[in-house]
Amino acid sequence: MLSAVERKIEQFIAELNDKEVISLYAKLPHGKRLRAKLILKIAGSKLSVIKTAAVVEMIHAASLLHDDVIDDAYTRRSKPSLNALYGNKTAIMLGDILYSKGFLELNNISTEISKMVSGAVVNLSLGELKDVSLSKGFNTDKEIYIEMIYQKTASLMEASAGAAAILAGKEKDIYMTYGRNLGMAFQMIDDLLDITMDAETLGKPALHDFEEGKTTLPYIYLYEALEGKDAQKLKSLHKKTLCIEDQVWIQSKMKEHDIIEKSYQEAKRLIEEAISLMNDKGEKELSSIAMAMIERNF
Ligand code: FPP
Ligand code: MG
Repeated sequence: MLSAVERKIEQFIAELNDKEVISLYAKLPHGKRLRAKLILKIAGSKLSVIKTAAVVEMIHAASLLHDDVIDDAYTRRSKPSLNALYGNKTAIMLGDILYSKGFLELNNISTEISKMVSGAVVNLSLGELKDVSLSKGFNTDKEIYIEMIYQKTASLMEASAGAAAILAGKEKDIYMTYGRNLGMAFQMIDDLLDITMDAETLGKPALHDFEEGKTTLPYIYLYEALEGKDAQKLKSLHKKTLCIEDQVWIQSKMKEHDIIEKSYQEAKRLIEEAISLMNDKGEKELSSIAMAMIERNF
């Protein structure tokens, strides 16, 4: 039923009656539509569910358009990002159009759904600001990182699952925990892949996060594990363009201290909790979605 969501988004975009927007939207890669999948798996395919999934995906697409401008990212899903193709102004405005149309459509669903989703977008924005601010220095505080990824990524998945549960008349809190855990694990794994994957597979330069100033979980753990000169060296490389030797040094230190495994285990714990919650509810397909998230290659 994912195709019904695609059609609903296309319909919402067509209603804007603007040729430029229609053509720009057509150039955006769709991605995995993970949030829509969750919503459909929890709540089936009645019209209010399809609309909610469409709105959430439009908001998610808007947030990535803005994020690529903020992160100076010239690729998204192995293709040139919209800001790379048409400049920052166009990317920002298409983002604004997608999320404001999404908000308009939320009014046609229900007040409860509208509150749930728009509350998450407030968090999303607060999280992105936190990400930007934290990137100015070398953050070594794990709790702050956890709070930031909750806001930036997990809040919208939590709200997607919660909104779907409301629409399906299911227990909201359990599904929200499932969505939150999935979102946290998703971002942790995204941050890990930035270190373990080569640029070609990743579709963006490897170790880009650290160059951008982001001290994600593996860097926090690595800094904790390193001593003396090595700890100073890691700090000195923060926010710098890394030459091949520096990249290899970081990756070899990660290996030496088992950092990738330690960070992976953190994501795995969250996924296991999500799986157990869904198994208790007999939601096999939701368990499988969670399982697939940690079965990616490292
Ligand atoms: C990706 O993080 C970014 C997000 C998941 C959220 C971005 C949120 C905003 C820009 C807030 C504004 C949004 C709206 C709709 C008002 P990342 O850079 O770590 O991941 P990446 O590797 O996919 O770029
Ligand atoms: Mg980004």
